[in-house]
Amino acid sequence: MELFEKKFRLSMSSRVALLNRITHYIVNRKGKQMRPMFVFLTAKVISNGQVSERTYRGASVLELIHTATLVHDDVVDESDRRRGFFSINALWKNKIAVLVGDFLLSKGLLLCIDNNDFDLLKIISVAVREMSEGELLQIEKARNLDITEAVYYEIIRQKTATLIAACCSLGAASVKPLSEEVETMRQFGELIGMAFQIKDDLFDYGTQQIGKPTGIDIKEQKMTLPLIYVLNQCSKKEKSWLINSIKNHNKDSKRVKEVIAFVKTNGGLDYAVSQMKAFQEQALQLLEPFPESAYKKSLILMVNYVIERNK
Ligand code: IPE
Ligand code: IPE
Ligand code: MG
Ligand code: MG
Repeated sequence: MELFEKKFRLSMSSRVALLNRITHYIVNRKGKQMRPMFVFLTAKVISNGQVSERTYRGASVLELIHTATLVHDDVVDESDRRRGFFSINALWKNKIAVLVGDFLLSKGLLLCIDNNDFDLLKIISVAVREMSEGELLQIEKARNLDITEAVYYEIIRQKTATLIAACCSLGAASVKPLSEEVETMRQFGELIGMAFQIKDDLFDYGTQQIGKPTGIDIKEQKMTLPLIYVLNQCSKKEKSWLINSIKNHNKDSKRVKEVIAFVKTNGGLDYAVSQMKAFQEQALQLLEPFPESAYKKSLILMVNYVIERNK
């Protein structure tokens, strides 16, 4: 990871001073770096520890793209905090945040192209397309407030799970191109990605300090699993109260708190936790056939971290 960080910093450089200021701000407030870790660990599980320059480049590209989507996501969600500090849009406004996100995305794609990693570029480009579609599907569904559990899974699969799937399949492809393991690891990453986003959505219902705002999903009319479950369980009267709260009173803090409390007392969080664990279980099963090694142990630890983490 130390070596990765050096390479990652270099991958953001620009001749524009303003951009360098902003990318410095970004790399000095690094996140959990789970995506590169998934790249390295899946590669190592398959190659028994041998990673290549392609693996490092792939890891940089995925973290670049992840960073770009966070910068854009905070514009879309009107969020002013990220990783315990101000978000890019909070400090430099939306105009600049949109352009910085585009810059990071293009830097990522070019890193593949300049090194002729076209197989990796393909994996990554699919994820980029799906993430945009996922965020737009989420907006479309938020407008109608008609989201089902199946649609929720489709949204999180697209907006979050496909990128983690890309990390794991790219890790495999970087050391063993065109192998069966590439698809197995894609499926593994997708399942972990599902659990990862359910966990993120659970944080929004909590009061823990996670470095970004909590309680904003309902304000943004984002319907996540705890709420969807409760909507399908409660009486007609309660359902209209919930829908009315989200539709017409979503900026009223007191009302939002009441909705959150209602979701909690009606088992919404417990249900989401059980679904998250079901995805985790399926992911772990896919790892079973791989031979035991220190790398596999670490990868399993990462899987467990996804659901046990506290930020
Ligand atoms: C946040 O991802 C965006 C989601 C897909 C929920 P992370 O929680 O991995 O963000 P950082 O990189 O650690 O800040
Ligand atoms: C993840 O969804 C969106 C991305 C894929 C970037 P969220 O909007 O819930 O992510 P956070 O909570 O802002 O990190
Ligand atoms: Mg957001
Ligand atoms: Mg969130």
